[in-house]
Amino acid sequence: MLTARQQHCLQAIGITAWQSRSSISTELEVEEQVVEQFIKPPIKEISTAPPSQQETVKIEAQSFELNDWPQLLDSIESCQNCALAQSCTRKVPGKGLQQADLMIIGEAPGHDEDLQGIPFVGRAGQLLDKILQAIQLDPNQVYITNILKCRPPNNRDPHIDEVQACSQFLQAQIRLIQPKVILSIGRISAQNLLKDHSPLGKLRDKDHVLPGTNLPLLVTYHPAYLLRNPAEKAKVWHDMKALLRLLNNE
Ligand code: URA
Repeated sequence: MLTARQQHCLQAIGITAWQSRSSISTELEVEEQVVEQFIKPPIKEISTAPPSQQETVKIEAQSFELNDWPQLLDSIESCQNCALAQSCTRKVPGKGLQQADLMIIGEAPGHDEDLQGIPFVGRAGQLLDKILQAIQLDPNQVYITNILKCRPPNNRDPHIDEVQACSQFLQAQIRLIQPKVILSIGRISAQNLLKDHSPLGKLRDKDHVLPGTNLPLLVTYHPAYLLRNPAEKAKVWHDMKALLRLLNNE
C-alpha cells in the first residue's frame, strides 16, 4: 500500500498508482522501489566548487570564433548554415546556468520551443523539470540545450547535414560550460553524441565518455517517450540514480 507521500511523488513524475488485486504485483513493487528512491535525499550535496577548482575538461577547440557567450549566441541567432534557419520561427540556443555541473542535451526544439525560443518548455519539458526536481536538482541550476537549435518541420528527425551544421554550436556550449556530466536524452541525442547508431535501449545504463573529450556521458529516455510509455519511468529513475552518483563523484 502506498503512503500519501509516495502517491504524491508518483503523481509528480506521472506514474499512475493503482492497487493490485493480487497480493504480489511486480509492477507495483517496481513503482514502490522507485518512490523509495525518489523520496530519499541525495547522499551528499552536488559540488558547488567554481569551475576553476574543478578538473579542466579536455575539449578540442574546433571553432576559435565561438569562445564567449555573446559571440556564440549572436552566431546562433544569425546562422543560415542550413534550411531550418528559414523554416523555424525562432532559434533555440539553450537555457539555464552557464556554469552548470550538469548539461542536458535533447534532440531539437518542438512546437512550443520554436514559438518561445526556449528549450523544453512544452509537456516533455515539464516532465523533465519534475524528474530533475524529484532528484532534488533545480532545473535552473543545470544547462539544457538540443542537438539542433532550430525546429525541423513537423518535428521530423534531424538530417545529418543539419546536425553537422549545428554541431559547432553544441561544441562551443560544452567548451564554455565545462560541465561535470552530460545527460543525453533520447535516441537522436544519444546516437549523434556517441556516434553510435545502436538502439537507445543498448546505449542507456552504460558509462560513456563524450567522444573527443574526457566528459562522462549518460543516456536516458526522452521525456516525450515517457509521456507515451509511462512504464519506462522506472528505468529513468535507475538512470537518475546513476546520474547523481556521477555528480557526487561516487
Ligand atoms: N524535445 C527536445 O528534444 N527538445 C526540446 O527542446 C523540446 C522537446
